[in-house]
Amino acid sequence: MFITFEGLDFCGKSTQIELLKNFLENENKQTLVIREPGGTEISEKIREILLDKKNSGMTPETELLLFYASRAQLFKQVIEPNLKRGVFVLSDRFYDSSTAYQGYGRGLDIDFIKALNKFALNNKKPDLTFFIDVPLEKLKERKLKHGSSNLDRIETSDEEFFKRVRQGYLDLANECERIKVIDGTRSIEEVSREIISVVSSHPSFRGENEE
Ligand code: TYD
Repeated sequence: MFITFEGLDFCGKSTQIELLKNFLENENKQTLVIREPGGTEISEKIREILLDKKNSGMTPETELLLFYASRAQLFKQVIEPNLKRGVFVLSDRFYDSSTAYQGYGRGLDIDFIKALNKFALNNKKPDLTFFIDVPLEKLKERKLKHGSSNLDRIETSDEEFFKRVRQGYLDLANECERIKVIDGTRSIEEVSREIISVVSSHPSFRGENEE
């Protein structure tokens, strides 16, 4: 199964990925966790360029293409071969991040982004995507605790940008059965219980053919 996690920064994705990984491993499923942008030597180098605060002059077009350069490498080198071997691949972000951040957030053409999915990813879609939703106000509190000095280039964007990104995710989830909206304001345990219950009742988890 290919499962992706989406959400605004500080929504708690990484904690939830770890908890799902533990569950899957207890079920004797081979599991691989990856993160975007990154996950291969080439992709990690692209990640540095993307997140470096010195690159404040990066155009939205450059940003989008760099995310896809990183993703194309990760997909061919790591995701595709592991899925073929039957590994459960859990990804911290995937192409829905580009639709939400570069499409809805930066205002780039969503149809062009869809075309990039075809070009760079063979049109491969995750089996399941969790959008961990936390309202902006709550995220701001978490951000303050984290301290603003450690924020990366994209995390330092303005509030209006993040409003559009969140709305983008909600619109995508509305249009798409694959994307489950998870209320991320609840306790870590409650959120994890819901995620595990959705995964374990999915036809691909139970080894049934979805098609
Ligand atoms: P992320 O790895 O979630 O940051 P962190 O390691 O600090 O949790 O993602 C880095 C930033 O890149 C994040 O602000 C979201 C952004 N991003 C996009 O704008 N588009 C994309 O396609 C991806 C994958 C990430």
